[in-house]
Amino acid sequence: MRIIVAENYQEFSRWAAHFVAGLVRGKPNCVLGLPTGSTPVGMYSEIVRMHQQGLDLQDVQTYNLDEYVGLSPAHPESYHYFMRQHLFNHVNVNSEQIHIPNGMAQDLKLECEQYEERIQNAGGMDLMILGLGPNGHIGFNEPDSQLGTKTHVVYLTPETIQANARFFPNVGQVPRQAVTMGVGSIMQAKEILLLVSGEAKRDVLRKALLGEVTTAVPASILQLHPHLVVVTDFAV
Ligand code: GLP
Repeated sequence: MRIIVAENYQEFSRWAAHFVAGLVRGKPNCVLGLPTGSTPVGMYSEIVRMHQQGLDLQDVQTYNLDEYVGLSPAHPESYHYFMRQHLFNHVNVNSEQIHIPNGMAQDLKLECEQYEERIQNAGGMDLMILGLGPNGHIGFNEPDSQLGTKTHVVYLTPETIQANARFFPNVGQVPRQAVTMGVGSIMQAKEILLLVSGEAKRDVLRKALLGEVTTAVPASILQLHPHLVVVTDFAV
């Protein structure tokens, strides 16, 4: 495990974007796993800036980590919308190579199976970029006695519903379910970049990196990955 401690959020975002750009330059058709949330916003804007200066993303394939159940891609809080707003509207990733779970699918079980199959057909991710939930979740793999390994439907915990309520008019409008890649889909990536910004996440990050590996802190599973890079903007 490598831990990079950046001076501030701007440096943190730049470091992450340069890491991603390095991979893309070395392997233009790489497969990236992408997160949402407030943490990666700065990284995405730095990638957009690098694209404007010549970084070519045309052959990259992307797989988003998760999506809320019941929000259409046009909903401003859907992760489809987030990704267009922060990245895809501003770079040249081929739209056919962008994959985000469909939280509006009639048959969610089938949607999960097909999403997982697409990941497997792509050979898994070269780089999985992750944020960290305040309760230690990755994607929407919530603390539980058991964790799903493949893409699956989850019920959000009251804590996550509360944490994500800041993006919605009121807590009642936060979806109760989501589709998420499982920990197996995540751990299969050749490399993982965990982005953690803000001292409020110090305790949960310490538990994830230094505590026991437990399904009660899903991010602790990342300790078992041979190529984990953690970037923070605070001393761990
Ligand atoms: C959501 C996403 C996670 C993300 C987490 C943290 O719940 N499903 O993938 O890591 O939020 O978000 P933030 O970066 O806003 O703290």
